[in-house]
Amino acid sequence: MTDVNSTSATPSQHWYWEPVSRIRGDILIPGDKSVSHRALMLGAVAEGESRIHGFLAGEDCLASLRVLRQLGVNIIQHPAGAVEVHGVGLDGLKQSVSPLDMGNAGTAMRLFMGLLSGRSFESTLIGDQSLMRRPMERVAAPLREMGARISTSEGRPPVCIHAGKSLQAIDYLLPVASAQVKSAILLAALRAGGTTIVTEPAPTRDHTERMLQGFGVTLLREGLRVGLAGGQRLQGTRIDVPGDISSAAFFLVAGSIAREGELVLRNVGMNPTRDGILRILRAMGADITVLEERRLAEPVADLLVRPARLRGIEVPSEWVPLAIDEFPAFFVAAACAEGRSRLRGAAELRVKESDRLAVMSDGLRALGIEHALSEDGIDIAGSHGEGDIFEGGEIDSHGDHRIAMSFAVASLRAAAPIRIRDVANVATSFPSFSALAAEVGLRQ
Ligand code: S3P
Repeated sequence: MTDVNSTSATPSQHWYWEPVSRIRGDILIPGDKSVSHRALMLGAVAEGESRIHGFLAGEDCLASLRVLRQLGVNIIQHPAGAVEVHGVGLDGLKQSVSPLDMGNAGTAMRLFMGLLSGRSFESTLIGDQSLMRRPMERVAAPLREMGARISTSEGRPPVCIHAGKSLQAIDYLLPVASAQVKSAILLAALRAGGTTIVTEPAPTRDHTERMLQGFGVTLLREGLRVGLAGGQRLQGTRIDVPGDISSAAFFLVAGSIAREGELVLRNVGMNPTRDGILRILRAMGADITVLEERRLAEPVADLLVRPARLRGIEVPSEWVPLAIDEFPAFFVAAACAEGRSRLRGAAELRVKESDRLAVMSDGLRALGIEHALSEDGIDIAGSHGEGDIFEGGEIDSHGDHRIAMSFAVASLRAAAPIRIRDVANVATSFPSFSALAAEVGLRQ
């Protein structure tokens, strides 16, 4: 019998941030989580060796790395974010004797569902408490249409992918704008007969498509449609992981709401399907300058951010998928902006690592920020003047890394200390957050 209970529970930890008003520094943004997961997975099913530079050694990506080792892939971690993956080819993954533990990582679970469908062996996918509550049918349904045999527990993990026959291509219109679902289908399509077509309702992050092309796969890309002919082999390659704009977002907001100083953020990923937070902050009047842009498979830039008087914004619906992970940080910026901000069409926030609308609403209330929650968004009243915006108080992050980091940044405009509970999961995406925050002047 397999034990489908998670082994990845993290110990609880707290933060206590003193109010500060000044920020200054020049920091290198660590590797992108989405790109790091994909680099490992594509490297694993490629032929020959792949070298990943700038890999994010956060808990989420390390879960992917361990799972691939369980599936028989030889991966060597070198110092300074260099990783060597010895590809086993499209059909070379081997059965794991124990369940595959994805920890807190939704991306890992959903993409592995695509990668492990239609194999000659069974796989059981589990995760931590948060992941065990998240919806998996959105991925299981299209994969079943391709011929995969997948069972979930009322739509949630554990996910069991039964041994099955070969997969068939589908022509699929995504019901939600989700890069994870799109990517899971594309990974399954690599081993399916025929040409799979995925159509998105709105653009979502295209890291999988870009990286597949880097591995030598031919894709048809036409507006919101992606086509992939099955059976194409991947050739091992070099991958340069850009800095994670989702991690940079906390410092973009910090640099914008601070009363004094300036920040330089190096090597920030500028993929246009991820840059919603830049669009939003600029539309709010943020002072962000691109110092130097480099056009690799994934574009990157160094950014200079200076304090600015922010204005409230109604977030355009087409920007929502482009900033989906940055809304907790945006809410902190909106609290510091003059005039009301409004977000709608963001019901997806309710099924992230936590219910980010509800948990952020509780936190904003605890710090005295006037706002109104709706089913798919929030209205935030905004501030008046240049004084303190946030009262001190205690926040429960519900183990959600991005919520913890967002409220840490609020200490730049707080009247009294902010205590944040349950922050161990910051290590899933941004293990060096506290150190970098201290380097630029935040104080714990
Ligand atoms: C991700 C896609 C997004 C995002 C998540 C990472 C990815 O999820 O929220 O943090 O790496 O593909 P959805 O695609 O479910 O919106």
